[in-house]
Amino acid sequence: MKVLIFPNATDAAHEAAKIIAKKVHEKPKSVLGLATGRTMEGVYRSLIQIAKQNNLDFSQVTSFNLDEYVGLSASDKQSYHYYMQDNLFRFVNINMNNTHVPNGVAADLEKECAAYEEAIKQAGGIDIQLLGIGDTGHIGFNEPPSAFDSRTRCITLASETRQQNAGMFEGNPQKVPSKALTMGVGTILEAKELLLIALGKDKAPIIARTLEGEIGPEVSATAVRLHKNVTIILDQDSASSLKQQ
Ligand code: F6R
Repeated sequence: MKVLIFPNATDAAHEAAKIIAKKVHEKPKSVLGLATGRTMEGVYRSLIQIAKQNNLDFSQVTSFNLDEYVGLSASDKQSYHYYMQDNLFRFVNINMNNTHVPNGVAADLEKECAAYEEAIKQAGGIDIQLLGIGDTGHIGFNEPPSAFDSRTRCITLASETRQQNAGMFEGNPQKVPSKALTMGVGTILEAKELLLIALGKDKAPIIARTLEGEIGPEVSATAVRLHKNVTIILDQDSASSLKQQ
């Protein structure tokens, strides 16, 4: 496991973007695992900038997002479909037919999750999976406890997570959907490479717990320590509670 600590959030986000850009440059048919949330906004801003400066070609890239709220459609401004369009897809030449976000309004959610797993397999698996981390230690929306062999499924969001994400819902946690579809921890661990990024003081306790605490399903992010090819990108604030720096 490689842990890289940067002086500030901008530099940390830029490094994550550089790693993704390098992957696309080296393998134009890359299968990218993508994430949403506040942390990724800076990562995508940098990625768009790098893509523009270097004429980076996304036309053969395939992408799979980690998660989506149940009950929100692609046109809903709070949906992760919308987020991806707004923060990345419309700025690069990715073929929208090759982008995938779980469908939170599918008539049969279980079928949707199984089809999502199958689509990842058909694409040849994920080359690099971008991950944020929630206050509960979730990766994707794998709330505790999440088995390390869990697959894409419908889960109930923890109250801390609805609180964490209330900003997009008029500051009201009650307005955050109570359920979401998420890749499982097992699905995530099958990616060839993992890239986890955490920024800011609020993430310091969960980063310390993730990197220095006991590995287990109570903190899904600890699973990344079992992966052979993982990079953790932190700013000084999120790294501030680590014993070893
Ligand atoms: C989002 C996702 C989540 C977030 C995490 C951190 O697709 O999978 O695990 O990465 O909740 O969110 P932010 O970056 O908003 O703190």
